[in-house]
Amino acid sequence: MSMFNRVSGTLHCEGVPMDQLADAVGTPAYVYSAAAIRDQFRRLDAVLAPVPHRIHYACKANASLGLLAVIREAGARIDVVSGGELYRAQLAGFAPDEIIFGGVGKSAHELREAIAAGVHVISVESEPELRQIDALAGLAGTTARVGIRVNPEITVETFHDYIKTGEKGDKFGVPFDEAHTVATLAHALPHVTLVAIGMHIGSQLTDLAAYTDGISRLEALIGRLRAEGVDTLEHVDIGGGLFVPYEGEAPADLAGYASIVVPAVQRLGLELIIEPGRFLIAEAGVLLARVLYRKRSGGRDVLITDTGMNDLLRPSHYDAYHRIEAVHAVAGRRRFDVVGPICESGDFLALDRDIEDVQPGALLCVFTAGAYGISMASNYNARPRAAEVLVDGSRWAVITARETYTDLVRRESVTPEWRNS
Ligand code: LLP
Repeated sequence: MSMFNRVSGTLHCEGVPMDQLADAVGTPAYVYSAAAIRDQFRRLDAVLAPVPHRIHYACKANASLGLLAVIREAGARIDVVSGGELYRAQLAGFAPDEIIFGGVGKSAHELREAIAAGVHVISVESEPELRQIDALAGLAGTTARVGIRVNPEITVETFHDYIKTGEKGDKFGVPFDEAHTVATLAHALPHVTLVAIGMHIGSQLTDLAAYTDGISRLEALIGRLRAEGVDTLEHVDIGGGLFVPYEGEAPADLAGYASIVVPAVQRLGLELIIEPGRFLIAEAGVLLARVLYRKRSGGRDVLITDTGMNDLLRPSHYDAYHRIEAVHAVAGRRRFDVVGPICESGDFLALDRDIEDVQPGALLCVFTAGAYGISMASNYNARPRAAEVLVDGSRWAVITARETYTDLVRRESVTPEWRNS
């Protein structure tokens, strides 16, 4: 059920009118529904109830502290992919054993931080990385808990090539034909314990069969390792990737997902880890913006708004579709290019889109913007990043203040402090 609804013609987030938020906080602003996040978590948690499982929210989707707190309170744990995300997770109150640390290029510095924090699993994506973790854990006088992220090398359906990650030749994971060797090495090395075998096939997966194929490859590997005496495995990790509708498509088939995952986990007798990002947060967030100008150009009607690719990169970067609606109902519709103020032709939210026939000053709501919205935002054109607002019932709070001009230049200096080499 959507938490964004019209009441007397005005869009609301839960019990709060969006125009009231725009007046109070300004635009552009991201607005999130706490109830929507809790709801998604509960639905996912419920279908996995038959097996022991841990839901580690992939916070690359959105790592704003105020949201992490809601997600943690809902019962999720967390998946981080950088020292910065680890820092955010800790600030939001996640305990070390609630954190898993992944990513294809972790630096020695980041690995030291993960080892010092004592995270639940460090996911390994190559043999050299495994050897480095073993050495660093040895130096720290400890043993690191590691998982092997296998590239299952299966062909998947997603909406854009950039978000496929589990095909042969992708940069992610240990290639399937090397996975057994790397896992055996992990079992043998003195300062690591092999606790998980995992994968992440891709994001926005449209075909659940990808999970069937990927899991069966993991099962084969786990079976072989166990037969050879590896007795430390606790988890099978099947990554994220659950589908989210952006354009009115059917939502992810959670019952179908569970019907693939649950029996496999029962056969394996391990605890399941999943790493959903988009699924938990995408539909819970919108980007609220204002129309600045309207003009005609080359026979097209153009709406110029106060938000663009620096706030929401997805339309420009992936040609992604985000539904757009006027906050106040308007009679009549028209086809518009909805664009931003950035000096790039690729700066658009939608091209040739049929929306309400709005005028300058109108508020627009860009939907399904909770995931990979603010987390991919930039300061391009020296634009301060948007404010973020959390709504919970009839209450709302600014969880991230709008950036200021001072914030933009905080780390810079006009006069270099020269040093000699
Ligand atoms: N686990 C790993 C190892 C991942 O690489 C990802 C996403 C996830 C979990 C979470 O996947 P999700 O459940 O969100 O599909 N910026 C792109 C999406 C990039 C996804 C990268 N990896 C977008 O805006 O569509």
